[in-house]
This record gives sequence, structure tokens and C-alpha cells, in this order.
Amino acid sequence: MLPRGIQNVDLSNIPVARAAYDGAMSAEPINPPPRLLMGPGPINADPRVLRAMSAQLVGQYDPAMTAYMNETMELYRGVFRTQNEATLLVDGTSRAGIEAALISLLEPGDVVLVPIFGRFGHLLREIAERAQADVRVIEREWGTVFTPSEIEAAIIEHKPKLLAVVHGDTSTTVAQPLDELGELCRKHGVLLYTDATASLGGNTFETDQWGIDVVTAGLQKCLGGPSGSAPITLSAAAVDVVNSRKSVEAGIRAEGDAVSAHPVRSNYFDLGQILDYWGPRRLNHHTEATSMLYGARECARLLVEEGLPNAVERHRLHGAAMVEGLRALGFEIFGDQSVRMNNVVGVYIPDGIDGDAGRATMLEDFGIEIGTSFGPLHGKVWRVGVMGYNTRRDAVLTTLAALENVLSRGGVTVTSGAGVGAAVDFYG
Ligand SMILES: Cc1ncc(COP(=O)(O)O)c(C=O)c1O
Repeated sequence: MLPRGIQNVDLSNIPVARAAYDGAMSAEPINPPPRLLMGPGPINADPRVLRAMSAQLVGQYDPAMTAYMNETMELYRGVFRTQNEATLLVDGTSRAGIEAALISLLEPGDVVLVPIFGRFGHLLREIAERAQADVRVIEREWGTVFTPSEIEAAIIEHKPKLLAVVHGDTSTTVAQPLDELGELCRKHGVLLYTDATASLGGNTFETDQWGIDVVTAGLQKCLGGPSGSAPITLSAAAVDVVNSRKSVEAGIRAEGDAVSAHPVRSNYFDLGQILDYWGPRRLNHHTEATSMLYGARECARLLVEEGLPNAVERHRLHGAAMVEGLRALGFEIFGDQSVRMNNVVGVYIPDGIDGDAGRATMLEDFGIEIGTSFGPLHGKVWRVGVMGYNTRRDAVLTTLAALENVLSRGGVTVTSGAGVGAAVDFYG
């Protein structure tokens, strides 16, 4: 329906307007096909998160909204397992959280050490380079992780201000153990940042106990929400670094407010200003993405209600059932299994099966999405995720049944029912 005032205008003689009008009229309401998202993320959002996101908006400074913001901060302290006051959301997908952290912590010329063991280590490097930091990297083969002594040797060699490391690198399914890195960093006077987008909520993660200064995440994996909000937590030491460059923008600046000669090189991702917006001062910055905040709050509420150790155990159980089933189908599992994340498993694509065609059959015939791989693993490895809302027995068994069919149709010899049977036995 056109707006009232122009309903009676004849658009048929105005070709551009006519085309736009026809296009608009042929767009159906959003009604996505039913899918079971069993890739490395995004996964199906928890319906409770979707319901929270459909709640009506309130004003930016409505007491209800500021109360939701404070509750969200407290809930995410529970998810990150931290006492950090500075625990909040950056509006944007996970990489918005990464950009905010790196561009706010690093000044041009600062040395940052990035251990790279997969695609997302490369992303940290890329973002740090754009922040004009002096980026030093160490690299390991995809599917493996670094020992603490390898990282310490690089810290001694490069003397960085910041160690920026991915926790679970989704591209390789493995997670860099972090429990010793906080102490190492403290010993050498280095700040520690980690990207926990893929791991948080589904794997043990202890911000304070492990001594991590800054952690960022996203909703679309073990947190069971859509992408679009990046939870972040900063230690007091990290907040000091950010605030040392504080620059309050003109127009809202009050007398005595800081104006830095070397401000953060992004306004949107300036954590100093974002902290003032979330803090008691409520200094205006962006307009908080209210519906995303509702969703992020619900993701955290569900995890805290369940208890983080229980959520980790849920991911371990269903992830392990999937691995049992995949092995029984004859798949060889990719990567160092001693450090694999609970929530995603990589399998070598069997000889004779075209990786993309197999995934297309999964999607078209079964409505199930599994993941391809990047870089050196593309065409060789599929990634299967079991996370968030999809950590369920039915989701695991259905995926295994469909995979068996794809393999046998592709000419691979499989024992009928082997994958589902092994997983059912595993569940007991
Ligand atoms: C470990 C990791 N970091 C960062 C990202 C980037 O997240 P986003 O696409 O939400 O910006 C992803 C996305 O899959 C990820 O797995």
C-alpha cells in the first residue's frame, strides 16, 4: 500500500517509479525456509532470544532502558566470569568488539604480538595493522596451538605492549589454552586481549582467574543469539590505558572534559566514550541498539540461569556425541583433539565427495547447513557445529542421519545407521 497522500497518483507513466513500485509490491513478508544450522555459526537463535528481541522499544535514557543496560552488564560479568566493572556491549558483530578493543588499546607504533593459528589470528593482525600498530606475529600450522613457552619466548623477543590472541579459532576448531598466559603477561608487563567469540559459553572460560585484561565475544555461537552485538569486558588496567587517551567529542563536551592530542582513531569504536555512555555519567554517544541489547541480555540471562559450568557440560556432551557419530561414519577428525573446542568439529571430506556439492545436498534435501573451511582447509574439511540452541540430541542425530545419506549417495561405503547408532550408544 502506498502512503495516503500518493495513493491516487498514477505512477504508470514514470518508468523508474513504476519499477520501484512493482519491486516493492512483489517483496513478500520475510519467511525464511526452515533450516537446522549445524555449521560453525551462526546457529539457530534460541526462540526465547527472538521473543525478547521483538519487545517494543523504549527511549535511550528511559529508566527502564538504563536498568536493562545495568542488568546486561551484571549478567555478562557472570558469563565472562569477572568482577570487571567495565563489562558492556559494543554495537555491531563480533569484529566490532575486536576493532573497539584493538583500536582503543593500541596507538600508532605500539608493539602488539599476535600468535596466529587460524583465520581469526590473521583478522587480529589485519585490524591491528589498520590501527597502525607495530604488529609482530608468530605462526603455527592450522589445527595446532602454541605452548606457553613459545609465547613467552616471543614476548621476550618482541617486548609488546599487548598480546592479542584468539581463544577458539573457529576456522580450525581448536582453542589456544589461556590459563597460563595471564601470569606470563603480568610477569613481562604486557596487556592480554583475547577474542572468545567462538568459545564463550560452550567451553571453560575464566576471565579473572586466568588474568585476561580484555575479552570480546559475539552472540551467534554458544550464546544462542543472532550476530550483531559484541559483549566486551575490560580490566581496570585496560580501562586506564583507554582512558589515558580519553577525548570527549565536541557538542557534548563539558568544562573540564578531556581532549586528547592522541585520541582513539575511531569515534564509533572509542571505548573511552562508550564507557562513559554505559557508566554513571550516561554521556551520549551512539543510540544503543535496543533490540540487540534485549537479545544480548536474554542470551546472558539464559546462560547465567543455567549456570556456566552446566552450559559448558551441555556443549561437551552433545559435541562428543557428534564426534562419536562422525567417527562411526568413517570420518577422520581434523586438528589436535586435545585442544578442540566442545562446540565445533572438523572432518576431512572423504575421497570422491565434492565438498560444496555435499553441503548443497545437505541443505537442499535435509534443510541442514554445515560449514565449509577457509584458506588451506578449503575443499578438504567440513566443519560441523553443535552449539547454543542446537546443542540437542535431536539436532545431533538428524545431522548424522543426513550425512550418512550424503556419503552413501556419493559412493562412500558406510554401515547403515552407524553414525546415529554410535551417538545413541554414546548418550546411553
Ligand atoms: C573466532 C571468531 N572471531 C571473530 C569472528 C567475526 O565475527 P563476526 O562475523 O560476528 O564479526 C568470528 C566469526 O565467525 C569468529 O569465529
